Amino acid sequence: MSFEHVLVIGAGQMGGGIAQVVAASGRQVSLYDAAPGAVERGLAAMGKSLEKLAEKGGADPADVLGRVSAADDLVAADLMIEAVVEDAAVKANLFHRADELLPPEAVLASNTSSIPISSLAAATSRPDRVIGMHFFNPVPVLKLVEVVRGRETSDETAEAITELAREFGKTPAVANDFPGFVSNRILMPFINEAVWALHDGVADAEAIDTIAKLGFAHPLGPLALADLIGLDTCVAIMNVLREGLENERYAPCPLLEELVAAGKVGRKSGAGFFIYSQ
Ligand SMILES: NC(=O)c1ccc[n+]([C@@H]2O[C@H](COP(=O)([O-])OP(=O)(O)OC[C@H]3O[C@@H](n4cnc5c(N)ncnc54)[C@H](O)[C@@H]3O)[C@@H](O)[C@H]2O)c1
Repeated sequence: MSFEHVLVIGAGQMGGGIAQVVAASGRQVSLYDAAPGAVERGLAAMGKSLEKLAEKGGADPADVLGRVSAADDLVAADLMIEAVVEDAAVKANLFHRADELLPPEAVLASNTSSIPISSLAAATSRPDRVIGMHFFNPVPVLKLVEVVRGRETSDETAEAITELAREFGKTPAVANDFPGFVSNRILMPFINEAVWALHDGVADAEAIDTIAKLGFAHPLGPLALADLIGLDTCVAIMNVLREGLENERYAPCPLLEELVAAGKVGRKSGAGFFIYSQ
């Protein structure tokens, strides 16, 4: 399997970062987003990130950006990496459309944080070529790719995607297809518990994050990390864990849901648990 042309769907925080990493590896990227202006915003963010990396000896920004083109809709490619909103129905619909439009040998990957890969594979006629390729935020910086094998993902697909992650300069780790996989089975209940601590008045947000940073040697506290991920995404992941693992202990803390309802979804909206200047 060779992946010379990659279609990235979703040009938000993750899709933009994924497009950047794919283009930096020398491959052609088509970037599609359903929201007007989203691809342009994604390209602008990519430009800023590449400038910063170039100051530290990274690739020529113009060269990398020259390999990314905006697409008005899904286009044929060797590989799709889907990074749209964490909503199972929206993703399944995209997988169904991609299955119809992309060549039969193309691999369809999702950057989902939590949604079972087999449920996306079921929307296609090629479940052996459907896989999870879960990058971490910020994509150009963090080294991990959690490769998630669906029930029917073939060995050939899993090996090719694991090797591709290495070619992106990442370290792959393979997980099986459970809600939240490994990363969010561990991380999201930790974040949710930190939100409960704030909700219950155990400490203020600053103190909660200081305790985690200095006490556990985490680079970011759980509340700042939730703001970085996006509180809307955190709620969506908790709901996948709650429904998929059939356990109410994974219910999102009401404070998380209140902030999302108020439009305070974290960094991308300028405010969440903390305030950010855009
Ligand atoms: N934020 C994180 O830290 C993080 C980390 C790993 C994985 N993820 C996963 O990556 C995915 C994207 O998260 P994000 O943080 O980039 O979200 P985001 O809100 O920044 O971006 C999502 C983008 O998807 C677009 N979109 C929505 N529906 C679409 C559709 N039907 N077709 C095309 N585009 C559509 C939106 O317009 C938006 O630009 C989610 O599945 C999330 O769980 C997020």
